[in-house]
Amino acid sequence: MTIKMQRKTLFLIAAAATALGTMTTEIAAAPAPLQGDAAATGVFTGRDKFGETSGEAMYRNVCAACHMPDAKGAEGAGMYPALAKNPKLEAGGYVLSVMMQGMNGMPPLGRMMTDEQAADVTNYVRTHFGNRYKDRMTPADAKAARPQ
Ligand code: HEC
Repeated sequence: MTIKMQRKTLFLIAAAATALGTMTTEIAAAPAPLQGDAAATGVFTGRDKFGETSGEAMYRNVCAACHMPDAKGAEGAGMYPALAKNPKLEAGGYVLSVMMQGMNGMPPLGRMMTDEQAADVTNYVRTHFGNRYKDRMTPADAKAARPQ
């Protein structure tokens, strides 16, 4: 309900501003700050790839929509597990495999990333939010986790 209203409000503002000729099409087309809707955050470079160049940016723009900016997860329409202080993240291959294969409500978002992007965001979550797993996943590890 809240999300629908936000989207509607933004459209109304954009429509009004466009009508007044005060807004470029780029701004009028700016994405709504919606949570849980990665496709609406404008992070895609093409039809099916993310453009983020750091693990941190990827986390903020993609993962945070469901796992929350503080990575503590959320409960509501679904159960979004905390990535913060999550012992399962010790296995970097587990993170990569969840991202590449998906798991129930977790979409296989890694398939929309390069091997490097997938390794970067994996390393980011494994070294932030109270996680201290220093061994780094490489693009080769990411590649190996993709569905064959
Ligand atoms: C559309 C919502 C959504 C987005 C976006 C999302 N996740 Fe998830 N994620 C989930 C859900 C739901 C689960 C729980 C799946 C289950 O337990 O069956 C999950 C589970 C996980 C797990 C397993 C956690 C555990 O304790 O077993 C990891 C790791 C993970 N996500 C990483 C990520 C990363 C990294 C990103 C960003 C690239 C991301 N997720 C983006 C919804 C999402």
